Amino acid sequence: VRSDALVVFGVTGDLVHKMVFPALYRLVRKGVLDIPVIGVASSPWTEQELKEHATDSVRKSGEEIDQTVLARFLGLLSYVGGDYKDDGTFQALGKALENVSRPSFYLAIPPSLFETVIRGLGASGLSRQARVIVEKPFGRDLASARKLNEAAHSVFPEDAIFRIDHYLGKEAIMNILYFRFANSFLEPVWNRNYVDSVQITLAEDFGIKERGAFYESAGCLRDVVQNHLFQIVALLAMDPPAYQGYDAVHDEKAKVFRAMRPLDEKDLVRGQYIGYRDEQGVAKDSDVETFCALRLLIDSWRWKDVPWYLRSGKNLPVSACEVLVEMKPPPQRLFDDSDPPPGEGRSNYLRFRISPNSAVALAVRVKSAGKEFVGEQRELFLQNEQRGEEGPYERLLAGALSGNRSLFSREDAVEAAWAVVDPVLSRHQPVRPYAIGTWGPAEADSLLGIDDRWHNPNPG
Ligand code: BG6
Repeated sequence: VRSDALVVFGVTGDLVHKMVFPALYRLVRKGVLDIPVIGVASSPWTEQELKEHATDSVRKSGEEIDQTVLARFLGLLSYVGGDYKDDGTFQALGKALENVSRPSFYLAIPPSLFETVIRGLGASGLSRQARVIVEKPFGRDLASARKLNEAAHSVFPEDAIFRIDHYLGKEAIMNILYFRFANSFLEPVWNRNYVDSVQITLAEDFGIKERGAFYESAGCLRDVVQNHLFQIVALLAMDPPAYQGYDAVHDEKAKVFRAMRPLDEKDLVRGQYIGYRDEQGVAKDSDVETFCALRLLIDSWRWKDVPWYLRSGKNLPVSACEVLVEMKPPPQRLFDDSDPPPGEGRSNYLRFRISPNSAVALAVRVKSAGKEFVGEQRELFLQNEQRGEEGPYERLLAGALSGNRSLFSREDAVEAAWAVVDPVLSRHQPVRPYAIGTWGPAEADSLLGIDDRWHNPNPG
């Protein structure tokens, strides 16, 4: 059933300006969004100010503006100002929702305010027949995630809760699920008998920008690993869903999180770029990591003893995200040249490029023409079409508004993922400094097996 209004808490914030308004504009252009959009925030803004803000956001997103579409979009917007702790705010919102029976409430607010708003929606009765869309981070450890789930469930049933992880709305990540289960050649080798190791790198060539205060409360592990990278792991590691449908996929993903071995401090290297402590909002003696590398094990029949190496960082040499699934070498050497030179990785791997573009590559060895049984390594490379690509926010918001939960995280999976990182959130080695523009501290190499090297993705 489709929602008949979208209420955006935190409408004056950064996330809405950067991501949400441009996505809503595109949905209006597609003809998918024609319901009232009510912004809520504590600032004493007028409707006019909100509209100017929204126009500015669409402009800055680089979107080509169609004046008729823009006018239609702005026509949907209205504003309710007030403190989230104040019953009056919810009463005013109730007035704005008088002719609405199934609203979606989108919480684009700091996590510290989630509970207040959820309880306000419950107490005012506005939560009836409604959905709630919750931005990440969903908790900051296992205990807080549980508490948040309890608070949400005291007001909303699980099937009305839409937890956003925008990575799930990315074309290239949806393609992992598709590629694995729409093809038959992969499954026989997709296990510990043939896979040697898996690497996932999410590199960014910029720092924390103006998000010092947020980042100080998060760090790399909480910011992108427990959610974005773990979601990629789950899609790569899961068993085939037995049937179509939300629960089939989410059951299998949850099993992966439950089979992940809780991290130990020796599985984790944390780094901090030099200069981080001078950023605005950052403590002079901050121990927050802007880089982390970890070795993860999944204790399942399929993956036992296969190391999963995960790595992410700010101020690395490039902005790119890639997965590398390295296959074991052939059991016997028949050709003298068959091993690639040290440092060049395995002969066979499958590479998923997640960003900035979406691609899949399969590395193989082929005989070099004219030579006698001497070969070279080549990639069969498939670039996915970029044409008509939807941004993740557009896809996720459209999904939530129509009640499609397939791209949202389920309660048990979120908690199970927290349980994996929980032990190292407080017990860990101090951060190691690294220079801006490098691949993080050298200690990250110590996580790898003797024959392994980090795979550094190319820039776009
Ligand atoms: C966000 C993190 O969730 O994901 C950011 O808070 C990070 O720190 C971003 O930069 C990465 O997302 P994307 O889509 O730019 O790869």
